[in-house]
Amino acid sequence: MSERSAHWDKVYATKGEAEVSWFQDSPSISLEMIRAAGADHGAAIIDVGGGASRLVDALLRDGYRELTVLDLSTNALDAAKRRLGAAASMVDWIVADATTWRPAKAYDVWHDRAAFHFLTDPRDRAAYVERLRLAVALHGHVIIATFAPDGPEKCSGLPVQRHDSASLAAELGPGFELVETRSETHHTPWNATQAFQFSRFQRRS
Ligand SMILES: C[S@@+](CC[C@H](N)C(=O)[O-])C[C@H]1O[C@@H](n2cnc3c(N)ncnc32)[C@H](O)[C@@H]1O
Repeated sequence: MSERSAHWDKVYATKGEAEVSWFQDSPSISLEMIRAAGADHGAAIIDVGGGASRLVDALLRDGYRELTVLDLSTNALDAAKRRLGAAASMVDWIVADATTWRPAKAYDVWHDRAAFHFLTDPRDRAAYVERLRLAVALHGHVIIATFAPDGPEKCSGLPVQRHDSASLAAELGPGFELVETRSETHHTPWNATQAFQFSRFQRRS
C-alpha cells in the first residue's frame, strides 16, 4: 500500500462522515455544474477522488445511470457503499491512484472536488492530466474544485496546491476550454470557512 493510500485509509477508518472538513450534506455546485454540462442520464460520469462524498447519491437520485467513483482509499468507497445499500450495485467503484490509473473506457464528465489540490509535485499533476486525457471523451467536460488562492494551505494534515481557473487551464493544456468558474465559501462541520473554486472545462481536441 502506498503512503498516500495509507494516509487516506486511516482518515476514513478513524473519522465519521461529518467529522472531516470537506463534508457536504448537499454537493450543490457540483450538481449544478454537471447538469450545466448537458450530460444526459446515460452519460458516463466519474467522480475522481470521490471518497465517501454524497455526490453519487444525488446523481443516482437525479436519474444518472453510468456512474463511477474512483478513490485510492478502500475505506472511503466502503463507507459510500454502506450508505447507498442496494443502490451501490448500480455504481462502478474503482480503487486506484488517479496519477497511475489506466482508464478502461471514455467518460463524458470528469468531476474532482478536493483531490487534485493534493498534487503538489508538478510531475504528479502531469501524470493526473495524462490519465484525464486518456479518460475524457472529445467534447466531454472536466469539473475540478480545489482550494482557491485565498483558501487553506493544508487539508487533512497535507499540503495543498491552491488553484484558480487560469492555473487549472495551464495544467490541462490547450485542448480544454474554460466554460465556467465559480467561487464557494465552504463551511466545515465545525463552521470554519474555506475558499474553494470550481472550474468547468470542455474538451475541444
Ligand atoms: C478532501 S477528500 C474529498 C473527497 C470528496 N471528493 C468530497 O468532496 O467529499 C480527498 C479525497 O481524494 C482522495 N485522493 C487523494 N489523492 C488521490 C489520488 N492521487 N488518487 C485518487 N484519490 C485520491 C482521498 O482518498 C480522499 O477521498
